[in-house]
Amino acid sequence: MCWRKRIWRVPRTSGASSELFVLACGPIVAHIDVVALAGDGIGPEVTEAVTRVLGGVASAYGHELTVCPHDVGWSAYERHGTPLPDTTLEACVRGPAVFLGAVGDPRADGLSPEKRPEAALLQLRRELGCFANLRPAKIDEQLVGILALKPEVAVGTDLVIVRELTGGIYYGTPRGAEAGSDRTVNTLVYTEFEVERIARIAFEMAGRRRGRLTSIDKANVLEVSQLWRAVVDRVAGDYPDVSVGHMFVDRAAMELITAPTQFDVVLTSNLFGDILSDEAGAICGSLGLLASASVGGEVGLYEPVHGSAPDIAGQGIANPIGGIRSAALMLSHSFDLQSEARALEDAVTTVLAGGLRTPDLAGPNDTSVSTSAFTDAVVEAVALGGARVGAASAEVSP
Ligand code: NAI
Ligand code: MG
Repeated sequence: MCWRKRIWRVPRTSGASSELFVLACGPIVAHIDVVALAGDGIGPEVTEAVTRVLGGVASAYGHELTVCPHDVGWSAYERHGTPLPDTTLEACVRGPAVFLGAVGDPRADGLSPEKRPEAALLQLRRELGCFANLRPAKIDEQLVGILALKPEVAVGTDLVIVRELTGGIYYGTPRGAEAGSDRTVNTLVYTEFEVERIARIAFEMAGRRRGRLTSIDKANVLEVSQLWRAVVDRVAGDYPDVSVGHMFVDRAAMELITAPTQFDVVLTSNLFGDILSDEAGAICGSLGLLASASVGGEVGLYEPVHGSAPDIAGQGIANPIGGIRSAALMLSHSFDLQSEARALEDAVTTVLAGGLRTPDLAGPNDTSVSTSAFTDAVVEAVALGGARVGAASAEVSP
């Protein structure tokens, strides 16, 4: 069952700016078609918030929004006996964009690996060919007061983790318990091809940002990391404007805490990126703040960095910002709706500036609000932004 919202904007004649002009000319500016995988724990709460803010963006900008929900994770396993039903995978492969809340449930702990919710996530990423996971981490100035780090250390942090997402130790074979032995094995493997393609994404991004790339590995111990480092050095030759540094992952974990502002683009493997991005979330104030876009295939996959947070699930207090920012990345990357993506980002900033906080962001003197109250405020801020666009359009209309 799909939820369809159609918004027709009254045509206006105006050539004042390209944005206004586009609004003036077309009955529907764009179709935003999203496959929504709510998943487990706080996933449904966050996905509902995202659906509502996307509805707000569609209303404000004259787009048609279609959201098609599908099962994934533990909730899919309960209903269908598998964490990634064929119908879900088929819908995702059709795309053009997938939003995933979170998967994971303690009740799945005893299941065999292929039935666990996390297996769905790994299979989905691989099937979609989303090998590049982009995770921006920037400190919101409104949250400086609640940071665990001293402001003089943290303020100015603005980095993107570029995590390889479809290779490395999460996928390598052989894996699992060895028959007739007390050994259990995971395999770390990367090909030159896999390293080169993720490295190029990171170099391109560094070129568009501050021109600094830090590649993180464990080349003092792991042969795979030595290959990683050699490939990054070779690719660097094609990007003379980007300065490259290498760092061992243990040192990087320390430097992220002691001097996070030194980082611009952080390039790293699947496992190291997974670990360091939770650390980046903590630096920014909460894991609930961070968004991600997984790109590289024909369909984009957008997910907050956090997991299903069983400890707070069902209480209506999950921070929806990571999800909402993932939706902004979706508007930008999958639909090329740059103004709308900025409007959504700005709406979150406006709401934070107004003092609203979910409990994870609340300082000792802050009153916290629910997920839905925070979302209401974001929708309202988007509408006000949209109204401003409408007002500007009206002013220049004959
Ligand atoms: P988690 O990210 O779910 O939670 C870690 C801590 O951060 C918890 O205290 C939680 O309450 C808090 N937190 C996370 N998101 C929050 C939000 N939006 N608002 C407020 N607080 C938030 O990590 P954990 O506890 O290690 O894993 C729980 C489950 O999630 C596991 O089954 C794990 O495998 C799964 N997981 C799934 C991911 C995904 O679906 N992409 C990613 C990471 C973990
Ligand atoms: Mg993780």
